Amino acid sequence: MCGIVGYIGPRDATPIILNGLKRLEYRGYDSAGLAVLENGHIAVRRDAGKLARLSALVEESPVHGHVGIGHTRWATHGEPSARNAHPHLGMTGDVVVVHNGIVENFLELREELSAEGVVFNSDTDTEVIVHLIERCLSRETGLAEAARCALSRLRGAHGVVTFSSKEPDKIVAARIGNAGGVVVGLGDGEMFLASDMPAILEHTRSVVFLESRQMAVVTREGVEIKTLEGDAVAYQVQSVAWDPIAAEKGEYRHFMQKEIHEQVRSLTDTIGGRVDFEDGRIHLPELNLTPEKARRTRKLFIIACGTAAHAGMVGKVLIEHIARVPVEVDIASEFRYRDPIIDEDSVVLAISQSGETADTLAAMEEARSKGATVWSIVNVIGSQAMRIANGYISMQTGPEIGVASTKAYTAPLVDLYMLAVLLADLRGGIDERTRRRLVNDLRLVPDLAGRCLDREADVEKVARFLLNVSHCLYLGRGINMPSAYEGALKLKEISYIHAEGYPAGEMKHGPIALIDRDMPVIVIAPRDPWYEKMLSQIEQAKARGGIVIALATDGDELIPGIADHVIWLPETPWMLSPVTAVIPLQMLAYHIAALRGLDVDQPRNLAKSVTVE
Ligand code: AGP
Repeated sequence: MCGIVGYIGPRDATPIILNGLKRLEYRGYDSAGLAVLENGHIAVRRDAGKLARLSALVEESPVHGHVGIGHTRWATHGEPSARNAHPHLGMTGDVVVVHNGIVENFLELREELSAEGVVFNSDTDTEVIVHLIERCLSRETGLAEAARCALSRLRGAHGVVTFSSKEPDKIVAARIGNAGGVVVGLGDGEMFLASDMPAILEHTRSVVFLESRQMAVVTREGVEIKTLEGDAVAYQVQSVAWDPIAAEKGEYRHFMQKEIHEQVRSLTDTIGGRVDFEDGRIHLPELNLTPEKARRTRKLFIIACGTAAHAGMVGKVLIEHIARVPVEVDIASEFRYRDPIIDEDSVVLAISQSGETADTLAAMEEARSKGATVWSIVNVIGSQAMRIANGYISMQTGPEIGVASTKAYTAPLVDLYMLAVLLADLRGGIDERTRRRLVNDLRLVPDLAGRCLDREADVEKVARFLLNVSHCLYLGRGINMPSAYEGALKLKEISYIHAEGYPAGEMKHGPIALIDRDMPVIVIAPRDPWYEKMLSQIEQAKARGGIVIALATDGDELIPGIADHVIWLPETPWMLSPVTAVIPLQMLAYHIAALRGLDVDQPRNLAKSVTVE
């Protein structure tokens, strides 16, 4: 989950790399650095902390050249510091490396290299790579061969980019497993490299994605791709639709605030082109779902991490209720090691905003190895989870930059709803009237989201009320139990308040002991089939002296009488109510964090896509 950028061409590499890193800073912001070939020598500039410190350092002592690589880091091995920042130079000073991933056997390699007299300048796992390349260079013919030799010694998943002052006409990049992507951007007489597209979109839309166990040798004129075994690869150039403006904050203070407010558009886009309101039918062509396959599907597994897993939990209620297909939701990091019972009639659906989350990708491969059909719901076009799936649904929300996911949570809620209706339809398990009603309700979604956003000022008032709390309990039931988990996760992620989402029915089996005047209880109680039960949950929390903030449907006459604060929700068909329930929870977390003056877009210790285990 680091960000990598590279450039080779006639222009000055430094500003291109710094701008690219700026667009990737959400991937890691513990330290940053770049290396540029200047007058035949590799000049390195790096510093701890945000990219701004590196920019200041480069301003103070400028470097210029036509070949360069850069990196923003999310620390795994070696604390965030300037000496552990990438790029890492070898002992000769002629080879430099940036890396994404974890060298799982770095301790043994470090010992082996130290025994040969190699002096290490950092505590990172990455540094072994540049020393291995230098060692191989003494034996192999050229950087590409040396990189292949060095990579063959590494265990784990990696994205590696390197260049040498002895071969100034090329940059070598390689990818092994799921440690974040490596994209090559094709320019006119110049080439770009990046771990993620936003870094190069302002320069080119023509890209080549490196697959696992592939290596690219990139020169000004073009790119040659081979497998790590040395076989030539015929690659496909893809054109990316995203525009770089979408990756700008515009008039908003934070990307998260912008992305919360983009949900009318993102929900319109995720429905767009997939719903035939005339016929009352859903079309998800990239899923490649046939009536036979739909009928043969005996069980569906949903695998994901974090916010995406919460969307999966809502998906379980929707698919079981509408399509009557049993669904099991698994946290991907657990799924891949629990030897799940899967066969060719199983479908495994992965949900991932970035499409590069290592645990989710590995769980997809686990499912494939057991013969299952693998689908994915993904936001990042061209990401691994989109490419390795048998079928996919694109969330179509555009780039999501804020680390705390928002629009890429509500979009899959609607995608899962559409998938459930399509599955039921293709299985012949739904009557026309019900199908048309469910499809028709989708018309309401963008406007309902807009009405939630219009009530931001009311939510901000509650945020001011909760500004100084240290704990918070979120309760939900049924289809909105995951809304409680998601609300709590948003608050934890960006405000650092300890928050817990809990199935409301479970409260009396333990967490009720936490409730007192200092423990605010946020209760998600829209008019859905679990409404009556939620009323008594509110009563129980009040009976213990809890401060209750309730999310209630417009016109509710009971809840204002028993809750301390009410956040009003527009009347929403219950199967879509998680969409309108979560938007005020996103805004609540946002305003508490913003009022606390915290770095909302880049919360401490987090990163946008987790590409290591
Ligand atoms: C959510 O706000 C977090 N950024 C995190 O929990 C995230 O949902 C998780 O890492 C999964 O990411 P993905 O959707 O990109 O796979």
